[in-house]
Amino acid sequence: MALQAKSEPKPDYAKELIAKFKNHSAVVAVVGIGYVGLPLAVEKAKVGFPVIGLDRNKERVGMVNRGENYIRDVKDEELRKVVSEGKFRASNDFSELSKADVIIICVPTPLTIHKTPDLQYIENVTEQIAEHMRPGQLVSLESTTYPGTTEEVILPKLAATGLKVGEDFFLCHSPERVDPGNKRYTTQNTNKLVGGVTKTCTEVAAAFYGETIIKVIKCSSPAIAEMAKVFENTYRAVNIALVNEMALLCDRMGISVWEMLDAAFTKPFGIQPFYPGPGVGGHCIPVDPFYLAWKAREYDFSTRFIELAGEINLSMPYFVVQKAQRILGLYGKSLRGSKILALGVTYKADLPDLRESPALKVIQLLIKEGCQVKYYDPYVSSIEIQLQDQAGHQNNQSIRLESIHNLDSHEISNADLVLVLTGHSCVDYELVVRAASAVLDTRNASSAVNDARDKVRML
Ligand SMILES: NC(=O)c1ccc[n+]([C@@H]2O[C@H](COP(=O)([O-])OP(=O)(O)OC[C@H]3O[C@@H](n4cnc5c(N)ncnc54)[C@H](O)[C@@H]3O)[C@@H](O)[C@H]2O)c1
Repeated sequence: MALQAKSEPKPDYAKELIAKFKNHSAVVAVVGIGYVGLPLAVEKAKVGFPVIGLDRNKERVGMVNRGENYIRDVKDEELRKVVSEGKFRASNDFSELSKADVIIICVPTPLTIHKTPDLQYIENVTEQIAEHMRPGQLVSLESTTYPGTTEEVILPKLAATGLKVGEDFFLCHSPERVDPGNKRYTTQNTNKLVGGVTKTCTEVAAAFYGETIIKVIKCSSPAIAEMAKVFENTYRAVNIALVNEMALLCDRMGISVWEMLDAAFTKPFGIQPFYPGPGVGGHCIPVDPFYLAWKAREYDFSTRFIELAGEINLSMPYFVVQKAQRILGLYGKSLRGSKILALGVTYKADLPDLRESPALKVIQLLIKEGCQVKYYDPYVSSIEIQLQDQAGHQNNQSIRLESIHNLDSHEISNADLVLVLTGHSCVDYELVVRAASAVLDTRNASSAVNDARDKVRML
């Protein structure tokens, strides 16, 4: 009788990985080296992990390898240092995934034109990972998405390789919570959620993140971590919508919403400051709640707060244009033919980020109404505005506007209305108010200016 060969016991991949995390020898692949991925890659490389940034954008890959920075939250000298020391390099060769002990997914999760989740980037990356996967890897999804993505979209594709989750490979969701430009809270001191597909997955992932992040919070499943992240952004979207609605009501009642909010926020408990504006922007707030709303429909559930908040926030650019029209009317002018100088086009003050910026929508609407629009933004030298026909349809035409170079009294006084859309702190609002015929300030950026206040109208 032939003796049956004894099968080798399976290596304890979890134990092996955790040991590599402890001595920082684990190879980390960050897939998608953008706003989230690049700072993360530099953080890990700084403490000694060998890091490979994988991106299909060849320009970004080239820049990283030359030590050139393109993300504001990353310090130029830190990137240069980790690249020159050979701790961090970038590539667009996805076969390098097989070299990684940890694969972190940081690709975009946008919406389709019908405001449904567009998971093509996550799906594409997952296919690449499956193709190059080997036993003993941790895969962590950091992109923001609806609850269920890790287990319903990623897991089946990785499990189809024949490798077993929780034994041969480890999978978790660990949402990125970075607030671009925030000096106080960085990746290191922002609590990190980790939800693994199995208990071992959570333990392995928590051990990895615990090496560089002060506090890691273990969730019992990826869905908890996914839901927590979209809830956080929904919370912001809903509260911003609430103050925007208050701004609309205060406008009708002739009450200053800004003074009212300042008064309300003096309460030391039970209330948190949120401010109105010309709409919401950035990658997260206008996008993520729609991921949740879409998923909820699968359960015959309608997320009414999300829909309502979306409706109010999306209406704000239209309200700004209406208010501009009213102000011009006080001077005997109409929108058509009026010269408008928009100050600030980014979605957030003091950052060069245009994504989903409501300022672009306001400018689009003003152009549609026949205004002559100029803009000033020290962070953005030019913008592309999609044109709309009178029915409000995009007509596949766009115009390019260049920022004026100097915000001087001549440029300011030349405009019929100066419209503050982003409150960049480097702008001299004293000068703006002094030189302008009229100002519509949608950000309370001119609050410190006391002279000639009669020229200033607030949102
Ligand atoms: N920007 C933020 O403030 C922020 C904060 C928290 C969470 N997030 C989430 O993080 C994720 C990434 O956002 P981001 O702002 O870093 O996006 P980004 O657009 O700045 O960067 C994404 C990168 O992924 C690359 N990429 C796209 N498809 C790829 C593919 N198939 N393979 C490899 N690379 C690919 C792109 O070229 C780009 O460099 C999103 O889900 C977002 O919601 C963003």
